[in-house]
Amino acid sequence: MKTLEEKFDRFEELNRQAELGGGQDRIDKQHKSGKLTARERIEVLLDKGTFVEFDKYVTHRAKDLGADLEKFLGDGVITGYGRIDGRQVYVFAQDFTVFGGSLSRTNADKIKKVMELAIKMGFPVIGLNDSGGARIQEGVESLAGYADLFHLNVASSGVIPQISAILGPCAGGAVYSPALTDFIFMVKDTSYMFVTGPDVIKSVTHEDVTKEELGGAMTHNSKSGVAHFMGNDDAHTLMMVRELVGYLPSNNVDDPPLKTCTDDIKREDERLDTLVPVDSNKPYDIKELIISISDDNDFMEVQPYYAKNIVCGFARLGGRSVGYVANQPAFLAGVLDIDSSTKAARFVRFCDSFNIPIVTFVDVPGFLPGTTQEFGGIIKHGAKLLYAFSAASVPKITLITRKAYGGAYDVMSSKHIGADINFAYPTAEIAVMGAEGAVNILNRGASPEERTKAIEDYNENFANPYKAAEKGYIDEIIYPRQTRAKIIEALRSCRNKRVTMPSRKHGNIPL
Ligand code: HXC
Repeated sequence: MKTLEEKFDRFEELNRQAELGGGQDRIDKQHKSGKLTARERIEVLLDKGTFVEFDKYVTHRAKDLGADLEKFLGDGVITGYGRIDGRQVYVFAQDFTVFGGSLSRTNADKIKKVMELAIKMGFPVIGLNDSGGARIQEGVESLAGYADLFHLNVASSGVIPQISAILGPCAGGAVYSPALTDFIFMVKDTSYMFVTGPDVIKSVTHEDVTKEELGGAMTHNSKSGVAHFMGNDDAHTLMMVRELVGYLPSNNVDDPPLKTCTDDIKREDERLDTLVPVDSNKPYDIKELIISISDDNDFMEVQPYYAKNIVCGFARLGGRSVGYVANQPAFLAGVLDIDSSTKAARFVRFCDSFNIPIVTFVDVPGFLPGTTQEFGGIIKHGAKLLYAFSAASVPKITLITRKAYGGAYDVMSSKHIGADINFAYPTAEIAVMGAEGAVNILNRGASPEERTKAIEDYNENFANPYKAAEKGYIDEIIYPRQTRAKIIEALRSCRNKRVTMPSRKHGNIPL
């Protein structure tokens, strides 16, 4: 019979083996490539000493391709739960040192367990991805594992926040689970996402493309819009994940966490009075307004490198989380196009799912004209934003800083599609279109003098907020310096908002 000491020794030995993943050589290789190991990542992500691990001794059950020869305790994914700023989150971290973090049947079952617990208990799931995709030795078992996870991703959508950090290569099936989650973080230079890699592309389409160009962090943050955030290295990226979690509720029936606010809620900023140029063709940076009014000037921008003509992100006002959506006059004059519409629509849907009020800043000359946009489906993509704002039942506050022209006026959380409180600055211009465009249509054969006069008349009549205010479409015209106090008060007035809609299975958002 074994002594107690021998039994404890065995226990310790198994723990040591499990914690070594695929072995010291592979750990060294991971470090050499600038990456942390899965366990180190969990340490950085969670509050110190809070990680509780599940299924540490699980191994794969594969028999083909000699896979039964090699078994690693934990089988390439570390799962469990812990806390971020004292708030519980479930977590899984793929271990690239074990079969390249590839997904086996048992590996999928471990992830499934934490996802199911997260839904049941009502806490976010954070996935730290670093994976070569389907475990080749397991064939269809691995594909089935992926499909189980996709199914759970969809079941969790809008119930608990789901966050993915891509911290290495993610190929094949490994990209679709993150794509179904709410936010994707990537790391500069060490993370990749692609459905098929450069070699396959070369053989099928004869294109030459590097891993970085195809699916690097900047590609997905700036070109494809697949990713939402980019960190400089693993540790920086994980800190950004912690920051994001701080804005979010644990689930769809919770409120976002309330942070003690030491920033005066009535604070005025005189500089805002001159932020919007009198010449309505001059650009300005809407982020100056956003940063100025937010608690402690903190703003976490979502997709800062993608569709820069619209700005989305999280901040706090009076200690409470808000989601901002703002046209950016400093980029493409803040015009709405396909990318900016889909970017903002997805953000609005997220905020609405998780009880985060939406504050919208409007300075928009309209939808971008042109065949590229029309052939690309601007009608259906613009409709996504219209649908998202219309359907959102969280408190919605809108401020028109300058231009609110045409269909874009309606779309950008206007009173007519359900905004609760609508503000405008005295510099606002709410009209069907700008003066030049209107005069081109209405005064087609006019002489240059008549044209100048017609533009002046149009500006006098329409380039202001008062026509809309006369009709009650704008609730209040405010001085820019008062913006923080006015929006905080408006949010406060909407705090008990309740909306009841006729029951339906779900709406049919234009996809
Ligand atoms: C089993 C894998 C693996 C996989 C990597 N490994 N991918 N083992 N299944 N899918 C193992 C390698 O054998 C190696 O083992 C270790 O992981 C590290 O891999 P390296 O190639 O040495 O690392 P690196 O050079 O950094 O390249 C990483 C990589 C490359 C880019 C991920 O390994 C790769 O291209 N892997 C295959 C990607 C892929 O095509 N996956 C299948 C996609 S299809 P040792 O023992 O040497 O440490 C798919 C379908 C799902 O996912 C569809 C669901 C919808």
